Amino acid sequence: MDLLTRIRTLRGLRAAPEVPLPDVARCVAIIMDGNGRWARRRRLPVAAGHRAGTRALRRTVEAAIDLGVESLCVYAFSTENWSRPADEVESLMGIFVETIERELPDLARQGVRVRFIGRRDRATDALRAKMAELEEDTAANDRLELWIAFDYGGRAEVVEATRRLVDEGVEARDIDENAIAARLYAPEMAEPDILIRTSGEQRISNFLLWQLAYTELVFVETLWPDFGERDLRHALGEYAGRRRRFGGR
Ligand code: IPE
Ligand code: IPE
Ligand code: MG
Repeated sequence: MDLLTRIRTLRGLRAAPEVPLPDVARCVAIIMDGNGRWARRRRLPVAAGHRAGTRALRRTVEAAIDLGVESLCVYAFSTENWSRPADEVESLMGIFVETIERELPDLARQGVRVRFIGRRDRATDALRAKMAELEEDTAANDRLELWIAFDYGGRAEVVEATRRLVDEGVEARDIDENAIAARLYAPEMAEPDILIRTSGEQRISNFLLWQLAYTELVFVETLWPDFGERDLRHALGEYAGRRRRFGGR
């Protein structure tokens, strides 16, 4: 889809070629929050909320492809989420495995390339194997980059990058922003243009601390399991009306 068509689609315009082109969000990050509240409101177990959340992710990936998004980075499990009750953590790990099994063929067919950021050493063997399989089976795709943040923490990422600098014996005078950025989990991941957080919470919760420096933040009330194409379109429409300054005039 060309740029103008995308903007018209986002803004619901039919034809207005004289409208100046606003920024279009190509790289989107999402904090997928609200699964627990969604389940509680329905008097369902929390795992049902997480399962419903995986269906919302599926819808969102499809919508992102339709809206011409190039890179989508979603927060699936934080370094702090291990502190949740053991039965919730256990069911989540099972849901991650099931979801990869269920979605892998479609993601591969739709041209989505999936990669993970975060720690791998604390995942179960089954999950670690599924993550590797998903990455391998979609490695040649280039329609949408889907980054999944699992056992991810922004502070842990900067700590690991710092350790790498020391391990490599980099001199203090050679350390600059590029040196750190090159040692993050995925240096090739584009910095998000927009961060969407669902469920009404207005905080970052340790997500992409380095990469969000100049990202536009959009907070929406929708609980993650209810999120879909309309919400994504709405958030991207809001972004299109923002003016990014990057500290300049
Ligand atoms: C987000 O939903 C999913 C994960 C953190 C794994 P929550 O489970 O945090 O949902 P709420 O915030 O309790 O509603
Ligand atoms: C952030 O949500 C993590 C994910 C969505 C995976 P949380 O629900 O864990 O964040 P807090 O505790 O409300 O800040
Ligand atoms: Mg939450």
